[in-house]
Formats: sequence, structure tokens, C-alpha cells
Amino acid sequence: MTLFEPAVFGALQLSNRVVMAPLTRTRADDDGVPTDVMVEYYRQRAGQGLITSEGVWPAFEGKSYPGQPGIVTAAQIEGWRRIADTVHAAGGTIVMQLMHGGRVGHPDISGQPRVVAPSALAAPGQTRTPQGKADLPVAHALTLDEIPEVVEQFAQAARNAIAAGFDGVEVHGANGYLVHEFLSPVSNIREDRYGGSPENRARFAIEVTTAVAAAVGADRTGIRLSPQHGIQGVLEEDDADVRATYTAVAEGLAPLGLAFIDVLHADPKSELVQHIRRTAGVPLIVNTGFSVATTREAAEALLSDGFADAVAAGRPVIANPDLVERWRRGAELNEPRPELFYGSTAEGYIDYPSLEDARAGV
Ligand SMILES: Cc1cc2nc3c(=O)[nH]c(=O)nc-3n(C[C@H](O)[C@H](O)[C@H](O)COP(=O)(O)O)c2cc1C
Repeated sequence: MTLFEPAVFGALQLSNRVVMAPLTRTRADDDGVPTDVMVEYYRQRAGQGLITSEGVWPAFEGKSYPGQPGIVTAAQIEGWRRIADTVHAAGGTIVMQLMHGGRVGHPDISGQPRVVAPSALAAPGQTRTPQGKADLPVAHALTLDEIPEVVEQFAQAARNAIAAGFDGVEVHGANGYLVHEFLSPVSNIREDRYGGSPENRARFAIEVTTAVAAAVGADRTGIRLSPQHGIQGVLEEDDADVRATYTAVAEGLAPLGLAFIDVLHADPKSELVQHIRRTAGVPLIVNTGFSVATTREAAEALLSDGFADAVAAGRPVIANPDLVERWRRGAELNEPRPELFYGSTAEGYIDYPSLEDARAGV
């Protein structure tokens, strides 16, 4: 299998197997509504076989960063419709990543009185609010009555994404945000049916994904997982526990028949990742995480050796809107400008040239 072959993942048609990884870029307006520059940014990147949108909040309490967009209000849905329509007109396929930030957030960012999580713990470190740096707050531990409300927020957000014209959704179960917080025994110290055993910690991820799949179709639903990522205090250091937890997740997802799972892990060839893939029994998108940016050689090897069905690239797609074309031709790549990743303007966002722009001298 090569990067440039088409694929069908459930109801999703991919023209090639290079996926644009979900990338928070903080260019929405103060109401969480997508802006004109966002329409242009996604249009430029429609040549990737599948676009995964940046993390989008499914509830006001789920907003983690200033400038992060939501999919709750009518204005947000209308804003995203412009993006979906533009990507489709450019021949692309796009799913929305539903990201509830959990305890990684702040009342001064979300405008809500609290952050929520499985347990009343704070994530380590500080966050940048509009008023300056602040410690991440101790979360409100979701009660047994509140958990179904959060599950329904995900389901409604998924319906809203489809109403906006998206081809599907990805549940963000990775990188230390709410769903991942439930999975780790360090961030989840509950003693009820959502905590303790690996099966109990896996329950929330399975319930959210099941509800989303019921709302919009399993063939339009995926989930991102990042076992052992060790980020934002969501630690997973006991190998046997990690295997048991992610086995429970994958077994819970298997009957759904999802469109894909998307696993971020330093070693996608590892027994753990391949075990998750076999158990879930659906197409696997892999991404090797933050240390070294994804390269064409590594991505090609993963596909040709049969370790993945598609490869997600993050920073290379930020810097190269036409990454697939550049990889296909073996062309030179633009360098990313990390200092502008989380900016608020068009700079470092829609001004990376494509090969065509470069040739035309734009
Ligand atoms: C600026 C930036 C924003 C990111 N935002 C998200 C996000 O919203 N959701 C997510 O799951 N991962 C996010 N990630 C992680 C990427 O999806 C990806 O896993 C990471 O960049 C590693 O891939 P790469 O080596 O190809 O860049 C982000 C990464 C970067 C650099």
C-alpha cells in the first residue's frame, strides 16, 4: 500500500492516505465562530486525503484555549458550514474533532464557573488566559448524574457537525483532555463504575463514542487515542494497566464498526498499537507524536510494511498546504514557524506558499 492510493474508511472517501492531523490554531472569534481566514486555511489543505479539523468544543465548559472554535451555537454551525462547503468544492473530505478539554481549561477562557474532570484534581502547570498566566484549576468531579449530560453534549455536537456539512467526526480521546483523563489511573481516582478497574476507566470513552456513533452513524465516527503519551498529568506508566485499559476500550468499540481509529504513539509498530488495531477491527490512522515531525519516508514505511492504513501529519501540513503533492513529487518542504502556531492573525496561518504559488512567484 502507498501513501497515494485512495481509501474508503466507513462512509469516508479518501483520495490518498495522508491525513491532516487535528491542529488547534486559535483563529476563531471570541464567540467560537470560525473566521474567514479559517475558511481559506482549510481550503488550501483540501488535497490531503482526509482533513481532521482542529479540536472543537462540544460544550462551553469544554473550551480549553482562547480562539478555539465551538460547535454549539447556530452561528458556529453556520461558520463551519462555510468550511465544509469550501473543502468539498476543492475535492476534499473533512471530519470534525470533538474536543472537550476537561480540566485543561480555565473559567477566564471558557466564561464558565468551573472546569470538569473525572476527579477533583488539577492538571499540572499553567495556562494562558486573556488576563495572563494562571494555574490550571482544580476540577469539579463530574457526578454520576452529570456524566450522561456530557455524553449527550458530544452526541449533539456530532449532530451539529453533520448539520454543518461535515463528512464525519472524531472523538478526541487523546492528549490529556477529558476522555483521556478518564482512562488514566492518575487523573481518574473515582471509586464508582467510571473509575478503578481498567474496564471502568474505559467506560466513558466507550459511552461517548457509542452515543456519537448512534447520533451520526458509526461509519462517520472515529476516535483518537494516545496511550502512554504522558501529557498534562494524564500518566499511563504501568504497561500491564495500559494494555488492559486500551484492550477494554478497543473491545468496547469493536461492535460499533467505526470508520477509523487514530492512534498517536511514538512507535506505531509496537505490539500495543497493533493490538488495539486488531481488537477494534477498523482502519488505523497513525501519528508518531510531537518529538520528530512526520516525514515522508517514515509515513511510507508504515504503510508499505502494513502497520497502518493512513498516516496523519501535523506540522508538515501546517507549513505545506499541498503536502501530498510535495511528497508525491519529492519536492522541498517549507519550514514551519512554531511561534505562530497559536497566533490570532493570518500570519503563519494562510501565508505558507504551495508549489504553485512558489512557481508563480506569489
Ligand atoms: C500547533 C499544534 C496543535 C495541535 N492541536 C491538536 C488538537 O487540537 N488535537 C489533537 O488531537 N492533536 C493536536 N496536536 C497534535 C497533532 O495532531 C500531531 O499529533 C502532532 O503535531 C505530531 O504530528 P507531526 O509530527 O506530524 O507534527 C497539535 C499539534 C500542534 C503542533
